[in-house]
Amino acid sequence: MNTLTLENISKHYGEKLALDNLSITFEDGIYGLLGPNGAGKSTLMNIITQNVSFDNGGKITWNGSDTKKDDVTFREVIGFMPQQQELYSAFTAARFVGYIATLKGIAPKQIKEEVMRVLKQVEMSEYANKKIGSFSGGMKQRVLIAQALLGNPKLLILDEPTAGLDPKQRVVVRNLIGSLSKERIVIISTHIVSDIESIADDILLIKSGKIIDRGSVPELSQKVVSGEQNLENLYMQYYGDKI
Ligand SMILES: Nc1ncnc2c1ncn2[C@@H]1O[C@H](COP(=O)(O)OP(=O)(O)OP(=O)(O)O)[C@@H](O)[C@H]1O
Ligand SMILES: [Mg+2]
Repeated sequence: MNTLTLENISKHYGEKLALDNLSITFEDGIYGLLGPNGAGKSTLMNIITQNVSFDNGGKITWNGSDTKKDDVTFREVIGFMPQQQELYSAFTAARFVGYIATLKGIAPKQIKEEVMRVLKQVEMSEYANKKIGSFSGGMKQRVLIAQALLGNPKLLILDEPTAGLDPKQRVVVRNLIGSLSKERIVIISTHIVSDIESIADDILLIKSGKIIDRGSVPELSQKVVSGEQNLENLYMQYYGDKI
């Protein structure tokens, strides 16, 4: 069992408070981080993956050790799909994923096998030697998920993995995430309830840099005051004023 703990995490961008004193514990399982544009989802994911710093006074631990002091070991357990990334359109899928594998420090001898393993996991084996520039949005997203799966990470962070996908491709990506081994922590951000309601064990609702609620889909659904008790209506209850 893995444990990721955030204690008193805040983030200012200049005057702007993007995260407001978050304390959260994650254990193995799939988590949905749900919230509207600007809520702080990417900031939180970038902080966990050490791409953005946090304000003094906070602490993040992985299996009990402070990730700031132990960042080399911690980085090795992370697989990350950032939001809005550029893909190298002239690269083939295998070359792009192989390039990331090199950056991640995977041993040269293992790279080819590891690249084919993750491309198979996202059902992209047959396109391994095709150029990324010729892919649909859904195929590009799957390549990005594949690179996040390199090295079988114990902490998998996917920032809006279904962004820009059509409903059919959303289902493909959702099923893929739902089928991953459960012996890890998976955190998926989205502002689309249906992306996560069938696969997440726990949902965290984030608004203006604060976690405003957390629970399983049935637990959260019970909190709907008017209308059918489902997550979509809870989302509207919390964020309706923003739409
Ligand atoms: N580099 C930055 N400099 C200044 N402000 C930033 C920066 N990155 C994010 N912010 C601000 O912090 C807040 C949270 O942004 P963040 O990108 O984390 O939200 P998000 O929930 O990921 O939104 P989206 O759904 O649009 O991706 C927003 O108000 C945003 O404008
Ligand atoms: Mg974002």
